[in-house]
Amino acid sequence: MNIEHYKKMIREQGLDENTYILGVDLGTTHSVISYWNQQKNAPEPVDMSNGFGKIPLPSVVQYRKDELDEEWIIGSEALNTYVIFPESTAISFKSLMGSNQVVSLNRQSFTPEELSAKVLQTLLDQIKSMNPKSNLAGIVVSVPYDFDDAAKKATINACHIAGIQEELICLIEEPKAAALTYNYHHPFKSGEKIMVFDFGGGTLDITLFGVEQVTDTEQTLSVLSEGGQAKHGGDVLDEILYGHFLDIIAQKGINLEHLSKENHAEIKMRARETKERLSGTQKIRIPFPFCTPPFVVNMTRDEFESIGLKFIEKTKTLVLKTLQEAYKGAIKAEEIDRVLLEGGSSQMPWIKAMMVQIFQDQNKIYLSDRPALDISLGATIYAAMKMGIHDQTELVTGRQRMNFEVCVPHDIGFEIELGDTKKFYTMISRGTPYRLARRSQVFTIEGDNEEDMTRLSVRILERIHKEQGLDGCSIIGDVEVSGLPKRPSGQTQLKVALSIDEESGTVQGEVEDLGYGNLYSPSGFKQGFIPKRHQKTLVIDER
Ligand SMILES: Nc1ncnc2c1ncn2[C@@H]1O[C@H](COP(=O)(O)OP(=O)(O)OP(=O)(O)O)[C@@H](O)[C@H]1O
Ligand SMILES: [Mg+2]
Repeated sequence: MNIEHYKKMIREQGLDENTYILGVDLGTTHSVISYWNQQKNAPEPVDMSNGFGKIPLPSVVQYRKDELDEEWIIGSEALNTYVIFPESTAISFKSLMGSNQVVSLNRQSFTPEELSAKVLQTLLDQIKSMNPKSNLAGIVVSVPYDFDDAAKKATINACHIAGIQEELICLIEEPKAAALTYNYHHPFKSGEKIMVFDFGGGTLDITLFGVEQVTDTEQTLSVLSEGGQAKHGGDVLDEILYGHFLDIIAQKGINLEHLSKENHAEIKMRARETKERLSGTQKIRIPFPFCTPPFVVNMTRDEFESIGLKFIEKTKTLVLKTLQEAYKGAIKAEEIDRVLLEGGSSQMPWIKAMMVQIFQDQNKIYLSDRPALDISLGATIYAAMKMGIHDQTELVTGRQRMNFEVCVPHDIGFEIELGDTKKFYTMISRGTPYRLARRSQVFTIEGDNEEDMTRLSVRILERIHKEQGLDGCSIIGDVEVSGLPKRPSGQTQLKVALSIDEESGTVQGEVEDLGYGNLYSPSGFKQGFIPKRHQKTLVIDER
């Protein structure tokens, strides 16, 4: 059955107990799956530890192989043995999505999407083990707001590898999902400006939304700014603390070279545990039983914060920069009405203190009860909306219909040649709402012979770092149009349009032969295409 069949079924008979609507947060360090609970009329996270640990699944994949057997281990067990089997364990591969880098596990290569698919598959298996009769009706998967085009397409590919085909309703931007979860309990008011601060294990994502009352019962949430930084998450603090512990061990007169891989694994685990426990308590004792002689270190929250001071200051700078670099000019801290703290790392008390200092009002700062789960819950709410479980108006407690105006995170354009140099030519600017992100450019084809006139190659780029020129761009895809009518040089005009698919936020295009003025009428050739980073897209006029 496809989505449309399920939608019809839901419309006519409601959601039965074996039909599942799911939302997935595919995180750098943790992944979470939730389902729509019909009885509770709310999204419900699935405990991936079966009650023996935390709800999220560590996004860690291990591939073990010997002469007789091969085995995939995913989640906590893979994480706990990471440093013992580093050559067969993959972590943080989300940051490689969209690149053509492969991960070598036990001398075999895997793409980041294959590894993400393993995580997805494990999440889906848990649903099956909860209810063996379950059928998947529809699923929404989250992606970071500033994921580039290839990374979003790689995520869709990961879903396909995991066996999710037409059940994939759409991707959702993580801050949009977080805002939905929040709004489920606390309706937004017209005119408000909201900051979503999502501090995960890998990344810090900061998004500013503006709430606009369109009609009495309809609100639009539009993105006003986006900032933060990849590779600025809890993992970095773990590394800093790990280095600090090694220093302490060295000061005790122990030769670091004598530490085993297992010892290093244990120190890394202690680092993360110390960081997390100091969020709930002021002081802890950290044992190092494997050192000779064994010893215990005391650490206070203040000490921890002074060890991570540079990181803390950088975090503050990133918040201020997001306010400063809003799409339509700087926004002052006092203009922000609410700050939503999301992601596991937001539980560190210094975050709240920093936000109170920046925004000068404690009541504006909201720390979710379960920050690591909110994105998956929001993705599930969105999936339920899309499947027609509820009219959106009913779903949102404020009885408001909620629309989103998400904007293009990076400039999108063509690579063009000006004399001897190659340049970026902007087609769709950063900050343009998806809905309005459509622009076309007419190319006049010139060449030395008739064959040249039948084809056109274009390279579509995404400008990530403006100040670095062409080096700061990443490729969305190379497109080659061929089979065009044979006309004289300079007398074929081809219109190439670029736009954004609103469901996935990915770039798509269309080419159309315009002919040439009164001399050559258009051939009628018009065709859509989807550019891909690692594979040339061929658009052929076969008529
Ligand atoms: N109580 C706590 N105090 C401090 N840090 C915590 C606490 N609980 C979890 N964390 C940290 O939160 C991070 C994981 O957060 P989260 O699950 O939101 O990240 P993620 O979604 O996997 O990553 P990303 O959003 O970057 O892709 C880890 O670094 C973890 O150590
Ligand atoms: Mg996250």
